[in-house]
Amino acid sequence: MKPKTLRTLPDLRREMAAWRDKGLRYAVVPTMGAIHEGHMQLVREGLRRADRVITTIFVNPKQFAAHEDLDKYPRDEPGDLLKLGKAGSNAVYLPRPDDIYPPGFSTSVSLTGPARAGLEDRFRPHFFTGVATIVAKLLVQTGADLAMFGEKDYQQLRVVTRMARDLDLPTEVIGIPTVREDDGLAMSSRNVYLSFAERRRATAIFQNLNLAAEAIRNGRVPSQAAAQAARRLRDQGFKIDYVTARNAETLARPSIPGERLRLLAAAWNGKTRLIDNIAV
Ligand code: PAJ
Repeated sequence: MKPKTLRTLPDLRREMAAWRDKGLRYAVVPTMGAIHEGHMQLVREGLRRADRVITTIFVNPKQFAAHEDLDKYPRDEPGDLLKLGKAGSNAVYLPRPDDIYPPGFSTSVSLTGPARAGLEDRFRPHFFTGVATIVAKLLVQTGADLAMFGEKDYQQLRVVTRMARDLDLPTEVIGIPTVREDDGLAMSSRNVYLSFAERRRATAIFQNLNLAAEAIRNGRVPSQAAAQAARRLRDQGFKIDYVTARNAETLARPSIPGERLRLLAAAWNGKTRLIDNIAV
């Protein structure tokens, strides 16, 4: 069914109040559009856990650096609405810029902990401030019971989970496993940037993360397994930002025997930066 489109904050508030008045529980799925199967899975999982799902689409300028791809970020509103309807999203919030950043906007969320793990934050210094601020706003604006986030952006998931707990936001943050293409490549709105040859090569990130995870499970020192994965990827032509094993919750470097670990990678495939991660 076609989702209801809500194009202003007052429209959103009215619809959310109506859901709440009916006693419905609802989940929010924050996105930047260019909807793919990964986003659709968040919607479906939201519907399994709640009565209604509201998806938000806003390409957030505050999480892009000046040299990044804000201008060419893929946008396709009609296609997005079709896919979100297919996944079952009941409503879609497409706010005007002023609904998110009113004139004179001067407030942001300040972060440490998982947001300073030396992963994405090292290469995109303002990224998580931009993400956390808009996510806080979207959770407050929607008043959702649940918020669905993908493990694909694992550091983002940890940052948002931590923020919701620290600020007592009354929304439960839920992480959903990464949806992948048949060859293992994590689905991403940015995969459309890949040339044919780059697309074929892209699966190597997931493959090498899996090899490293298996090596760690077989007793290899995590940092060595990660370094080997980085070397192999470099040999295949990737430029590596990081390949590293971290505590799955805090994203700190491993320090306690037996702690739950996550392997995370970011690498350039030509002009496109890809990220991925898996559980060990
Ligand atoms: P975006 O990149 O559009 O992603 C929206 C949500 O979809 C995120 O929670 C992301 O982790 C999830 N997602 C993306 N690809 C996925 C995949 N292959 N499998 C499972 N989930 C996937 O992340 C953002 O937007 C923005 O930073 C946002 C949170 C909306 C704030 O602007």
